[in-house]
Amino acid sequence: MLELKAISKSYGNQQVLNNVDFKINSQEFISIIGKSGIGKTTLLSVLAGLVKPDQGKSFFQNEEISNYNEEQLAHFRLLNIGIVFQDFKIIPSLSAFDNVYLALHPRTDIAKTKKKERVKNVLNKVGLAHKSHDKVFNLSGGEKQRVAIARSLVGQPKLVLADEPTGNLDEATSESIMDLFQSLHSELSTAFVVITHDSDIANKTQKIYQLSSQKLELL
Ligand SMILES: Nc1ncnc2c1ncn2[C@@H]1O[C@H](COP(=O)(O)OP(=O)(O)OP(=O)(O)O)[C@@H](O)[C@H]1O
Ligand SMILES: [Mg+2]
Repeated sequence: MLELKAISKSYGNQQVLNNVDFKINSQEFISIIGKSGIGKTTLLSVLAGLVKPDQGKSFFQNEEISNYNEEQLAHFRLLNIGIVFQDFKIIPSLSAFDNVYLALHPRTDIAKTKKKERVKNVLNKVGLAHKSHDKVFNLSGGEKQRVAIARSLVGQPKLVLADEPTGNLDEATSESIMDLFQSLHSELSTAFVVITHDSDIANKTQKIYQLSSQKLELL
């Protein structure tokens, strides 16, 4: 489904990715582990088309997307990709509901009532139905993280890229989020790539990759 070929990326003279190949097949459930600062978020950003690599190409369903312009990339993400950012990137002054709703705002193909229904469902799934009209700045760290997860899922993307999606959650909540990913994975045939430093989380996935020394290796 999404494929990187011979991707290299440096920031100044610091090389982060060196000739990385990576393929995510539809319906796969993958985790990526690696030390802090090694380049996991960079890799995810390249996958999402948010960061341009210095070298290499990316393909989505066999179509090259590395030559897309910003507008084409935004459209590609809107229809196909859900992203859980490591720093959430949610808007504190808006409610949980409105943050999630905003992700569907550009989707002119979905009726307003349908959008509202989807937002409600997904907030329910992450256990935040009772807080849906609270402003996000009043929510706890873990609750904010669940808003970010709900937002990544509401478009029913083919692929979810999640950067430490359970990083701030306690064990029970982490487990329920992973269970949610797993059930969506089978229900909606969504593929998931989860970046994690937690080996229990990684062990719940079908394939574990490790990023080290600028290379990605299947464990
Ligand atoms: N925009 C940028 N400009 C310059 N350097 C950057 C930029 N983004 C990341 N880096 C550097 O690239 C390296 C990899 O960063 P990245 O955020 O991808 O690591 P990570 O594996 O996600 O780390 P963590 O586990 O701490 O989130 C780091 O040394 C970081 O300082
Ligand atoms: Mg990171």
